[in-house]
Amino acid sequence: MSESIQNAEALSHFSKDADRWAEAVRSSNRDRVNVSALRLEYVMSIAKALSACDIFVDVGCGAGELVCDIATLGGECYGIDFADEMLEHGRQLAAQKDLPNATFLHGKFEDFDLGKGKVNLISANGLVEYLSIDQNREFFAWASTQLTEDGVFTFSIRNRLYNLFSLNEFTDREVRAGTALDLLNEALTIARGIKTSEILDAVTPPPLETEAEIHPPTNDINVSVRHMFTPSQIAMLLKEAGFRMTNVYPCHIHPSQPALRAAQPKMHAMLSYALQEHVDELPHLITQSSALMIKAEILR
Ligand SMILES: C[S@@+](CC[C@H](N)C(=O)[O-])C[C@H]1O[C@@H](n2cnc3c(N)ncnc32)[C@H](O)[C@@H]1O
Repeated sequence: MSESIQNAEALSHFSKDADRWAEAVRSSNRDRVNVSALRLEYVMSIAKALSACDIFVDVGCGAGELVCDIATLGGECYGIDFADEMLEHGRQLAAQKDLPNATFLHGKFEDFDLGKGKVNLISANGLVEYLSIDQNREFFAWASTQLTEDGVFTFSIRNRLYNLFSLNEFTDREVRAGTALDLLNEALTIARGIKTSEILDAVTPPPLETEAEIHPPTNDINVSVRHMFTPSQIAMLLKEAGFRMTNVYPCHIHPSQPALRAAQPKMHAMLSYALQEHVDELPHLITQSSALMIKAEILR
């Protein structure tokens, strides 16, 4: 599948889905794991730990919740998204919360230069899976030009290592492609507690997915190609763009296979939230999470 078809499918899906998305992001119902809220909390914790956050950019900002939350800390906050319908939610939220420092920009990351070497924090939650591998390379390179020397880049990925433990058609695909053992080797290395910043010394990244990779549909998202990555693959792409990966943080832990989630959604959510409290102590939870947050800093 070409990158333009992948992008067009994503634009069509998120333009139609904006109202539902805005409601789901803000939901406090713990009968379902609110992955967007977990990702948002992670970025918020990074922003609060920075010595200064004068400029913040969220790429693929969706309904604008994160941009508005960070704007309450001060600084110039920008949300970029190519779906107007999403941006409209963000603008309404900023107006309701009286946040004139929250600005929503229509387009793609490459359309904007928010100040070379001046941005303190860039985030992208739920974006990279909708970009082609080449676009991801361009995105990482763009981020490295925008950030200050001590700036932070953080984004989520769909975790390809979880394919080993989902025991479903995603596992089958890895077995058929001959990649299951590579993934297992990486999973074992992570379970032994390797430091995130040293993963490339211990693991040879498995081959990246091809641009033609069409996955079985999940979560009613009508986009045929949504790339998955392992932590070592992301560390490699980041390194090519001048970054080092400094943290990998689980953001939707599966206590069992997705079959449990389908049969017992409330039990899945209860156990998942309970395990989420322990992500800092247990490296094993990285492989059990379908989504990961990645944190990266400029290589020095
Ligand atoms: C899964 S949603 C995530 C929204 C938000 N970051 C969150 O976590 O709630 C992905 C968002 O990225 C946007 N998006 C996808 N591809 C994009 C691209 N190439 N350029 C700009 N926005 C894009 C979509 O319109 C959508 O709003």
